Amino acid sequence: TTVALVLAGGTGTRLYPASRADRPKQFLDFGGDGSLLASTVDRVAFADETYVLTGERYADAVREHAPRAGVLVEPAGKDTGPALAYAARRIREQVDDAVLVCVPSDHHVDGDFASVAAHACDVAVGTDGLVTMGVEPTRPATGYGYIEPEGRFEDGGDADTDDGVAPVASFREKPDAETARELVDAGCLWNAGIFAWTPDAFLRECRNTPLTPIVTADDPAEGFARAEAVSVDYAVLERTDDAYVVPATFDWDDLGAWDALERLTDAGLGVEERDGNAVLGDGLTSDASGNVVAGDKHVSLVGVDDLVVAAFDDRVLVVPKDEAQRVREVVSELREEN
Ligand code: GDD
Ligand code: MG
Repeated sequence: TTVALVLAGGTGTRLYPASRADRPKQFLDFGGDGSLLASTVDRVAFADETYVLTGERYADAVREHAPRAGVLVEPAGKDTGPALAYAARRIREQVDDAVLVCVPSDHHVDGDFASVAAHACDVAVGTDGLVTMGVEPTRPATGYGYIEPEGRFEDGGDADTDDGVAPVASFREKPDAETARELVDAGCLWNAGIFAWTPDAFLRECRNTPLTPIVTADDPAEGFARAEAVSVDYAVLERTDDAYVVPATFDWDDLGAWDALERLTDAGLGVEERDGNAVLGDGLTSDASGNVVAGDKHVSLVGVDDLVVAAFDDRVLVVPKDEAQRVREVVSELREEN
């Protein structure tokens, strides 16, 4: 039984101020076919069952955006590691012979997702390991995980086939800029953040990690309370020696931070290229280029380059575009009121 597990419990910090704690990025609509969450749920229509994994505070919004999916509510917001371990235990109780496809709700995907997912599920069942999808990197991004494949893909060494698979030699989450450059030069792949595994295989690999209590407790909610807040990438992927990577042969991007918008000007998301700037919403630019401008109000830029300017509600954010990941710094300070 193929079970799609859509991750939608994040707070979307880096897309502030469009994304706010009470309306995080998965519920935003970038001019595509509904919200990011709705289009993610559509993307996994191939699965026998679909659950959206989220926190209590977002459960009603999830039901609204994804009426055909089940909602699996995790006990608290502790990042993706505890959430996925908790979900694996719940699904194991409810569904026989499940294989899980875990899908974030902040991706833009174009292409044949279903066949790559079916291949990943076959590999997960065949190897009894953890399966990731690998993307050919195009820049030394610091916001992604990096996969070092053992050799290249089995059927001739290129990632553009749809039936390749390679064991993962090592995994490195969110390296610094210098390390990212080395990893790209060494032929590593980006972790698309989309995983396939059986509940048993995943829970086995959660042993001896910060997630252990969720595996060993009689009551998974009680174990969850004792587990560390940590992403699955740091907690499990960096530790396991039983992972495999399959090539992600679809177009892929992560809409995690504002700089993503300039890569998506032709993606039908409502982002327009205007005089060398990426503009979402109403905006005017003069003698300005390389900027990302987004807002629910009219924004004008004159004589400035390579900035992110985002204006939503009564909030304005300005940050150098190549430091767009740093939005986290200010939002963690605003956390109380945000
Ligand atoms: N249910 C639940 N609970 N979902 C969560 C939680 C949580 O506590 N925290 C985050 N999520 C959801 C987010 O809503 C998002 O859809 C997904 O999990 C991934 O979280 P991100 O915060 O966007 O992760 P990331 O982009 O920094 O990193 C991950 O994805 C990259 C590719 O997009 C990692 O897997 C990287 O290795 C990977 O390269
Ligand atoms: Mg992301």
